[in-house]
Amino acid sequence: MSLSIWFFISCIFSIGCEIHYNKFPKEFLFGVATSAYQIEGAWNIDGRGPSIWDHFTHKLPSPILHNDTGDIACDFYHRYKEDIRNMYNIGLQFYRFSISWSRVLPTGYSKPINEKGVTFYKKVIKEILRYNMTPVVTIYHWDLPQRLYEDGIDWTNPKLVDIFVNYARIVISRFPEVGLWTTINEPKQICHFGYGLGIFAPGVKSDGLLEYQCAYIVMKIHAATYHMYKNEFPHYKAKMSIVIDCQWIEPLTNTKSDKEATERYRQFECGLYLHPIFIGDWPKIVKDRISERSKSQNLTKSRLPTFTQEEIAFIKGTQDYLGLNHYYTFLVSNIAANEKGFSNYEYDMGAINSESPNWKLDANLRIMSPRGIRRTLKWIKDKYNNPDILITEMGVSDNGKSLQDDHRIEFYRTYSCNILDAMYIDKVKVVGLAAWSLMDNFEWALGYKSRFGLYYIDFRNDPSLKRVPKKSVQFYRQMIKSRELNC
Ligand code: NOJ
Repeated sequence: MSLSIWFFISCIFSIGCEIHYNKFPKEFLFGVATSAYQIEGAWNIDGRGPSIWDHFTHKLPSPILHNDTGDIACDFYHRYKEDIRNMYNIGLQFYRFSISWSRVLPTGYSKPINEKGVTFYKKVIKEILRYNMTPVVTIYHWDLPQRLYEDGIDWTNPKLVDIFVNYARIVISRFPEVGLWTTINEPKQICHFGYGLGIFAPGVKSDGLLEYQCAYIVMKIHAATYHMYKNEFPHYKAKMSIVIDCQWIEPLTNTKSDKEATERYRQFECGLYLHPIFIGDWPKIVKDRISERSKSQNLTKSRLPTFTQEEIAFIKGTQDYLGLNHYYTFLVSNIAANEKGFSNYEYDMGAINSESPNWKLDANLRIMSPRGIRRTLKWIKDKYNNPDILITEMGVSDNGKSLQDDHRIEFYRTYSCNILDAMYIDKVKVVGLAAWSLMDNFEWALGYKSRFGLYYIDFRNDPSLKRVPKKSVQFYRQMIKSRELNC
């Protein structure tokens, strides 16, 4: 029977007649992503000042698995040429990396400028351009200068707004060759892990008290940076956005309460940061829930700060596209107000992330679900007026026992097929994707155990930190070259 007849018959009997697309358009951009603290090393070299991550990883007892630190990491500081050549050999169109604030401004304040730090990034950018790739630069990927933190100027303090904008102004003016800017990477991780649970630097455990103050400051800083950029650099062509991590959420069961909990979870997970930028103000469900919970804790006001009308207008529309990081899917169920043992955050959402024995997990125990990326993209398109979306990160971890990383190939193949469906069937405007990450690197609280790289590095036994290609390098190279997939 010919394929078309089979297709026709299966459609009639509703076996499934959605056509799946398997080719990326020629304008679609492929890249890889990294961040400064996770790869650079050279933590105290050439005038770099310490950041909160240096301080956090040097604490005793160490809060990091196996006492790992980013002191040396992949030593990108000295090996960037080799790494950028590897990117070129894969055939990438862009490289997303972040600037270490304290390498450029050792204290975080606008003076003194560390010219050696500026020169380093100039050289990195020059090298990227030499291979005809586009530098995509994140201004902040979690490494606040330690001096600012010690002065009390952190993500809960409104004084950080002007100081951050001064820093951003310096890097924007010094690096006019940047092709695309992102302001802040994954604010939820900064606020929830840094100021809620305290498992990321600066390690503040506030049981939900400071987390939303942090979210409020993040929104103000992002918006102030965007406006400064548009007002002071009108001749620059590069677009600017924030990067939001938004995972897919599905209800654990079909009950009404789990379905409602799912939508609430999505609003805490993604809407908290997307709504102020794309629609204006916090999502209503988030405002109501936190204010209700704050009342029941006998607090005099909600833990979620209220935006003024001016702030709402100032933040709304501060994006030229959306940077999206997506990795996995959660299953979620409702929790009742009297259940014990949950954090304030879970109570705020009234929902909890649950496990299913039937789904595949990666080494970080994250559920891999390819359809999740398509659904996330469609959800964002429908809710936030169909923005251009650059997938600024997607990837999968393992414990690095083998270079034959077939599971990673399967991850990129199936996720990419779903991105194609999102583009062609759901009409989502996805402009490109970046694999996280070029090479294994310092995975925050999990140190070097959890590996996301296309290249393997033996951090423990090989002082030369040789980059060894995993099987997935070949796959990614081929996919970029042919733009075609077996979907
Ligand atoms: C997102 C973060 O931006 C990045 O720093 C991290 O390593 C990856 N997710 C993997 O967890």
